[in-house]
Formats: sequence, C-alpha cells, structure tokens
Amino acid sequence: MLKKNHFLLDPNITFLNHGSFGACPKPVFDIYQQWQRKLEERPIEFLGRNAFSLLAESREKLADYLNCAARDLVYFPNPSTAINMVVPNLDLQPGDEILTTDHEYRAMDRTWRYFCAKSGAKYIQRNIPLPVTTHADFVENFWAGVTPKTKIIFLSHITSSTALVFPVTEICKKARKTGILCIVDGAHAPAQIDLDLSALNADIYTGACHKWMLSPKGAAFLYVRRELQDSLDPLVISWGYDSESGFGSGIQYIDYHEWQGTRDIAAFLSVPAAIDYQREQDWGHVRARCRNLLGVAVQKVQSLTGLPPIAPYPSAWYGQMAALSLPKGVDGLQLKTRLYDEYNIEIPFTTWGEQSFLRISIQSYNNEDDVDKLADALKVLLP
Ligand SMILES: Cc1ncc(COP(=O)(O)O)c(C=O)c1O
Repeated sequence: MLKKNHFLLDPNITFLNHGSFGACPKPVFDIYQQWQRKLEERPIEFLGRNAFSLLAESREKLADYLNCAARDLVYFPNPSTAINMVVPNLDLQPGDEILTTDHEYRAMDRTWRYFCAKSGAKYIQRNIPLPVTTHADFVENFWAGVTPKTKIIFLSHITSSTALVFPVTEICKKARKTGILCIVDGAHAPAQIDLDLSALNADIYTGACHKWMLSPKGAAFLYVRRELQDSLDPLVISWGYDSESGFGSGIQYIDYHEWQGTRDIAAFLSVPAAIDYQREQDWGHVRARCRNLLGVAVQKVQSLTGLPPIAPYPSAWYGQMAALSLPKGVDGLQLKTRLYDEYNIEIPFTTWGEQSFLRISIQSYNNEDDVDKLADALKVLLP
C-alpha cells in the first residue's frame, strides 16, 4: 500500500472514510496551490484571458480518462449542483414519474422531492431489498417499477449508505430502448471502479473528481448526451448565456454552464494532476490491493457480528467500500462517536431502513493495521 504520508491526512487518525469527501495526495494538492497562486499573481490574465483554454485542456484530459468527448463534459463544483441544474430543465408535469431506488443519496432525494412538489411529478423509490443477490434480479425488480408514466430513471452508480455498485449499464440500455431518460448519480464511481462513459451510455451522468479520483475538493463533472445538451438552461445566467461572438468555447452547453461568475477554478484545473498521480502509482494495482483489504475487513467484522454481508462477497457489487451490518440494538451514532473519540478511528455510520452499518472505505493509504485497529475496537465496543 502507499504510505499515508503521500497524503495530508493526520497520521494520528485511522482514516476509513475516504468515501465522504475523498483525500488529496500531496503532489496533487501542490499543483492545486500552484494554480491558486497563478490566479492571484495575474488575475486578469488568468481568469479574464486564459481560463477558457485552461479549462478546455483540463476537460480534454478528463474526457480521455472517462472515454467520452470533451465537449460533452462540463465541470461543476459537486454533483449536487450539477443535478440541481438538470432537474428544473426536465419539464416535469403533474403525474410524470421519476423511478429511483430507496438507496439514493438523501440530499439528491431532497432535490427531486422539491422539484416534484413544485411540478406535481412523483418521485417513486423502488425498494431494493437487502441482501442483494444478482444483477439480473436487481434489473428485473427495478424494471417492474416502470409504468407508462415513467419519464425519468434516476439511480446511483455506487450508493452512499449501502455502498453497493448498481448495474447501471443494463438499466441505461433498457431505458434508452424504452425512451425513458436515464440519469446516473456517479458521485462515488470515477476511479473507485473503471468508468467508461461511452460504454455506459447514460443520457446524463454526474461524477465527483474530489472523492476517488483524488482531486482537491470542488471538482465534479456533468456528462450530457449531445442531443440533450441544448435543452439545459444554466443554473446561473452569466456571460456564457447569449454570449458575444469570440467569447467562450463556441459550444452552448459548455458556455452556459462553465462560466458562473467569478470563482476559483483551481480544483478543476488540478484534475489532470490527479489523473497523472494515479497513472504514476499504477492505480489498477493499487485498487486491486484495496479490494483485497476490503475483503479482509468484511470478513473480520462479519466474524465479530455474526451478520452476513449485504451482497455476496466478493462480487461486482463492491468497489472500495462496504456497508458492514451492525447488530440490532446497537446505537450506530454512539458507536461511531466512540470509535473516533476513544480510538481515533474515522468511519461513518449509515442507515438504510431499520438497518444500520459502519461504512468502511479502503484507499491506497490504508493497510492491514487500520483494519485490525477497527476490529480490535469493535471487539470492545460491540455487545
Ligand atoms: C451517491 C451520492 N450522490 C451525490 C453525492 C453528493 O455529492 P456532493 O455533496 O459533493 O454534491 C454524494 C456525496 O457523498 C453521494 O454519496
């Protein structure tokens, strides 16, 4: 495993929560700060004259990484903002149905509920029972929720509270055939799993660069299928709207969404450095080691709780995170707090329905010691 000192993380903390906000390696963070310095040194040249071409270069590199065309990607500070731009553009009408699952990120649920309440559309959260079994079962169960009123499918590529990799490619394929718009929330996907946007073929896909791709905070992207791009009005109307000739990229989609008033674009410009860092560190290999260690953690915690995993292990349901079931009656919030306060272990507690979990993330800087520390603490703290 890579040493924790590649990162700025406090060495006194056993950090098992890469999933929430990521962590940025030092060389990438240095580049981020260099971009910020350049901006401060020559703000007019940087933001006024060079920003478009710098952003275009960065998008090219990201597009190459995600296997799509650069003109189909726009940087957003986070997936929440991207989805908040998309949803009001969908012309939701009373009775329209948005089919989703009951494993979605709760901030995203709120966005959909807000716009559904305004429009009279319905947000339908199909139950995906745990434990999950096969992808075929998932697709069949989910698809049984489609009705003639289903206008949009929205689902996570990797869920937040249950840390499951959903078979979104299959769902996108069926949606396209049926003429239903498919929007994927891939906040956790880029770099945690291989992501090929051309093969996935979603209508709309948002992903975070600041989680598993290791960029600094405030870098995410929105991919939109070309035919849909011009139907999206910007969240913030600025210079890119009805832009003067010679201004911007000449592509409406990019210009509408990329220029949102004065802001710090250093995180966007640091994404290529995060991609380079992964390549230099042979990320395929690093990821394989992380997955093995995740397996060790799943097994160790399972042997303490006696509870089976929520998805067969190993399987394609896992990336570098797992939701480890807690016994009924355990106060998850108190457990998480004690793990942090008494053992310096940072790990989140999540819930789904009545069930609660510790969600473990394994990143390059974690090693067997970290997993042992967690297991040793749980031996004491669990009933
Ligand atoms: C599945 C999922 N979607 C969306 C988000 C939103 O990310 P952000 O807060 O960066 O917009 C998260 C954040 O953790 C997430 O886990």
